[in-house]
Amino acid sequence: MNIIIITVIHIWILIVLPEVDGYINEMKCNVQNNNVDCSRLALTRIPRHLPTDATSLDLSRNNITIVKAFTFQDFQNITELHLDLNAIQSIEKMAFRGLLRLQRLHLGTNSLKMLPSGVFDNLNCLQYLSIDNNKLEGYQADQIKEISTILSLRTLSFDIYPNFQFPSQWSTLRKLNRLMIFPKSKKMQFNNEMFAHIKMLSIMSLHLHKVPFISEDFFEHFPKLDSITLWLGHDLPNNPVDQIFRSFGVLKGRNMTNIEIAFSRFSNQFNLDFSKIKYLWPICLQRLTLHDLYITSIGLYAFQRFSVATKCLEYLEISKNIILGQQGALLLYIQNIKTLKVLKIIDNKRNGRSKDAKRSEHSSINFIFPKSLEELYIEKDIKDNLYNIVFNNSFNLRVVSLKDNDFWTCVGSFRGVQNVEYFDMSGWTCSQLSINLLYGFTSLQTLKASGSLLGQGFVNTAYAGFFLSESLRIRDINLSSNKITTLPKGFFMHPFDQLSFLNMSHNNLTVFPQFHSSVKILNLIDLTFNSITHFADNDIDQIEKLGEVELLLKGNPFQCSCKTLQFLKWLSKSERVRDILDVTCVTDSASRTFIFEVISDLKTFEISCKTKFWLPFAVSITSIIIFAMILIVIFFRYKYAVEYFLLRFKMKMKNYIELQQEYTHDAFISYSHTDSVWVKQFHDKVNSMGFDLCLDAKDFIAGNGIAENVINAIDSSRKVIFIITHNFLKSSWGSYEMEMTRMHAFQKGREDMVIIVVKDKIKVIDMPEIMKSIWFKIICIQWPNDDNLPYNTEELFYEKIKISLQQNEESTRNVVS
Ligand SMILES: *[C@@H]1O[C@H](CO)[C@@H](O)[C@H](O)[C@H]1NC(C)=O
Ligand SMILES: *[C@@H]1O[C@H](CO)[C@@H](O)[C@H](O)[C@H]1NC(C)=O
Ligand SMILES: *[C@@H]1O[C@H](CO)[C@@H](O)[C@H](O)[C@H]1NC(C)=O
Ligand SMILES: *[C@@H]1O[C@H](CO)[C@@H](O)[C@H](O)[C@H]1NC(C)=O
Ligand SMILES: *[C@@H]1O[C@H](CO)[C@@H](O)[C@H](O)[C@H]1NC(C)=O
Ligand SMILES: *[C@@H]1O[C@H](CO)[C@@H](O)[C@H](O)[C@H]1NC(C)=O
Ligand SMILES: *[C@@H]1O[C@H](CO)[C@@H](O)[C@H](O)[C@H]1NC(C)=O
Repeated sequence: MNIIIITVIHIWILIVLPEVDGYINEMKCNVQNNNVDCSRLALTRIPRHLPTDATSLDLSRNNITIVKAFTFQDFQNITELHLDLNAIQSIEKMAFRGLLRLQRLHLGTNSLKMLPSGVFDNLNCLQYLSIDNNKLEGYQADQIKEISTILSLRTLSFDIYPNFQFPSQWSTLRKLNRLMIFPKSKKMQFNNEMFAHIKMLSIMSLHLHKVPFISEDFFEHFPKLDSITLWLGHDLPNNPVDQIFRSFGVLKGRNMTNIEIAFSRFSNQFNLDFSKIKYLWPICLQRLTLHDLYITSIGLYAFQRFSVATKCLEYLEISKNIILGQQGALLLYIQNIKTLKVLKIIDNKRNGRSKDAKRSEHSSINFIFPKSLEELYIEKDIKDNLYNIVFNNSFNLRVVSLKDNDFWTCVGSFRGVQNVEYFDMSGWTCSQLSINLLYGFTSLQTLKASGSLLGQGFVNTAYAGFFLSESLRIRDINLSSNKITTLPKGFFMHPFDQLSFLNMSHNNLTVFPQFHSSVKILNLIDLTFNSITHFADNDIDQIEKLGEVELLLKGNPFQCSCKTLQFLKWLSKSERVRDILDVTCVTDSASRTFIFEVISDLKTFEISCKTKFWLPFAVSITSIIIFAMILIVIFFRYKYAVEYFLLRFKMKMKNYIELQQEYTHDAFISYSHTDSVWVKQFHDKVNSMGFDLCLDAKDFIAGNGIAENVINAIDSSRKVIFIITHNFLKSSWGSYEMEMTRMHAFQKGREDMVIIVVKDKIKVIDMPEIMKSIWFKIICIQWPNDDNLPYNTEELFYEKIKISLQQNEESTRNVVS
């Protein structure tokens, strides 16, 4: 939400309500820092209620037809007014009243047929006036008269018609030094006749928008001329190129900043040979541009002469011509131009017209430059292999742009580029790549490599993570549109501590790149139009560590689902995503929505996720608990049964042989160890009576668990004697043995095997539940005590024991002797 508010504050939208033919048409002018932009709004009239503190007002590209008097009366602070590209037919006399500070007035490309006298009065600051491309043909003399009143004028852009002559009044326009002249007829001749009224013009910069004819001596009338721009146009009846070069003859020996010749047509193509170039080198010319002229070739001898003879050339541009396969040869002579700083050879093969250059056998190519060379642009010009390229004398070379050349591979390297700060290799075909391609660029700050198929190259190249490893001063990297699916391992894991801009847009990345920890001042990462669905937690950590970085993320298939909730939460808090309003995501229902709609109501989304998560979870937890409770109940209820069967099972596994009623003992004595003194006496006594009793300590097999021994003992004894005392009832071990015995007894049909000796005074109701449950089957023998004496004596007691132990002896076949 913050972002929306900020944006609104940033661009204050001005709503203008011009009353148009009775109805109100709402228009939006853009106001920033007193610059009012009302262009391209299809306005038919100049709106009222514009902010009067405006310093510039742009009303261009509308449908305004009239400028009424006093329209700008309140706009004292306007310095620049655009009314060009409208349909203005008339301007009233007082139209510009009040524009006291106006410096630049654009009236070009309208339908003006006349200018009222005095229309420019009081525009005492006006320096720039464009009034070209109007319909002032029948009004030429008066137009000139009006313009001649603007004494502050420096630049004038205007139409001329046949028989145009420079007016004598212009001798008073002492500041006028720049003319842009639009000849409105193909018959116009730039010659002596134009100077019938005034011999010399102190113009420094002359721009002719069409040159149907130019005489050899035309420029003689411009003694201060410093810059010439000649556009030829597409509709000239004759080819003026020869005349044009010849007209430079009069500039011989002069200092000139600029000559630009541009925009011819195919049928006017020419060979730039000695007869033309020879007019250029005697001028001390700093900048030469030959653009879009259909030059078919450049005479090598002529160019060599030029390169040696030109003394001041700092900028040479040969662009958009149809020169075939000559670039290499031209470069041979470039070293002769000792003052050259910028060389541009751009797009001279005009796609499809050039023959493929022959593959050269050289593996490395030397280019020798003038020491002064700072910027080299050879773009869209070469169709060849890339070689190992060596630049000589390149100490001052800072910019190398070789973009859009047809290199079949990117196998090669560069030397002599150690001071280059800007390198452009966009548009190459790098599906094959040298890992050391950029190793020579040790001072590189900006790398442009957009649309170079580097994704494929990285995949095909070993150690591609080292591609940039020698350019540690890099600041700005543009790797957009390279079909990169995954960056090579360690690609940005070099100490790029200057790195501040990274454009990875239009690739196929799915994860956020990993950066070296010294990358601290990264400003902007453009990840638009990739294949990222979300950032994982470690990506987010990494972003947070990158400092102030901003991200551009639109055009990714982000997921707005509960799985990416962490990412969405981070997005909602983070203010790093500059284009957050444009970022969309796909929701679980597979519909596409703006991500800010999701994150602005993240609480609801989160709750819906929690219910989604908890519902199955809660259901399963509850069922687990219920199941566990049932198990516990069952376990406690049938604890002993379970234990018993487990034990028997275990013993079976251990190959215990069931004794098949072959008892080794007459009885097993179960007792509490606190009663062991008495039990010992009891045991000895019964023993002496001829019975073999099992007493745990004596007969238990060492190494077996107690439970196992108990079972064994019970199993191998005909009877089990429980010595019931208060102590016994307290001991849980006793009840364990009791339970085991009961189980065993029932299991084997030996319910009568239990003999109970009640030693202490204990009532039947205090007996253990288990015992009570089988009470009717068991034999109970009371030890003589206060209660039953004198009817019960020790002799009687032992007699009862004897009888009990002998009982069933007959029925039991295997009696232990
Ligand atoms: C300007 O007005 C003319 C007719 O008056 C119309 O044909 C033209 O489309 C309008 N142009 C714009 C940009 O509104
Ligand atoms: C014009 O600018 C001056 C200072 O630059 C300012 O004081 C004055 O108010 C402005 N005039 C208008 C109409 O805004
Ligand atoms: C050209 O400029 C140089 C210095 O840059 C100056 O010495 C020379 O006089 C100038 N020549 C002309 C003809 O103005
Ligand atoms: C160009 O430079 C290379 C090495 O930097 C050097 O060996 C060679 O001689 C130089 N060539 C010329 C013509 O200066
Ligand atoms: C990256 O290169 C593309 C294509 O040449 C261009 O549109 C874009 O502006 C460049 N971005 C940066 C940050 O230089
Ligand atoms: C990144 O490059 C793309 C073109 O591939 C371009 O559209 C975009 O504007 C660039 N981003 C920035 C921030 O310049
Ligand atoms: C990105 O990958 C998908 C599938 O992996 C593919 O369909 C798509 O064409 C790729 N896009 C680019 C720009 O390489």
